[in-house]
Amino acid sequence: MAPAREFNAMVDVHAHILPGLDDGPSDLSASLAMCRLAVADGITQMAATPHFCPPFYRHAPREISRAVAALAQALAREGIPLRLYPGADVSQRADVLGLARQGRLPTLAGQGRYFLLEPVQGGLRALAGLASELRPLGLRPIITHPERLAEAGRGGWSWLEGLVERGCLVQITAMSLTGGFGAPAQERAEDLLARGLVHLVASDAHSTGRRPPLLSPARERLIELVGEAGAERLLRTWPLAVLEGKDHLASN
Ligand SMILES: [Fe+2]
Repeated sequence: MAPAREFNAMVDVHAHILPGLDDGPSDLSASLAMCRLAVADGITQMAATPHFCPPFYRHAPREISRAVAALAQALAREGIPLRLYPGADVSQRADVLGLARQGRLPTLAGQGRYFLLEPVQGGLRALAGLASELRPLGLRPIITHPERLAEAGRGGWSWLEGLVERGCLVQITAMSLTGGFGAPAQERAEDLLARGLVHLVASDAHSTGRRPPLLSPARERLIELVGEAGAERLLRTWPLAVLEGKDHLASN
């Protein structure tokens, strides 16, 4: 069998890359080391998504954008070709609806369309109502790494299918596909892929070590599981469409 032709640019919509804002890198040099690693891996564009979980982490969109601009300047100075976009990793514990109504929800690339929404243990049933209330506001949650929640696949995935019907997207973590979060998470990730319930694969990077900004190990596994065209959709085409705020994800 001929080796697959690998696409060579990937887009990461979930990375804790900004220095000192959350439990990601603590200073600029650690941020830059992560960015260098991402670029060497083939990542060309990345959303900087610090945790948003009041009262612990509650950076306003303006603050996040300022931090992104500062890191982008440092990247230019260092000659590191990585394009950054603002975003946040919004916990379900935040007052998502209130923030959305006030126009203070940190959305990806500030597009006012997609935002990362991290479900919490015990909160899955409440997500459908939230997604329905957000829809008229033009907001589409991206449900982050459901495969990492032990309760998520128990009793099937109808709760997640219902969310997708309400306009939500689903993002799994790259390391889940390579076993970094254990066998059950890996099995759930593969199950979701087989059901067509995954739209984005992202690093959720926190450091150069234990949670690195790498997508290429997952790309190998994705090519085996869904073929090269499928892998490209999940690692490049759809992440880019999301950062551009496109309403529809083209299938090729
Ligand atoms: Fe995250």
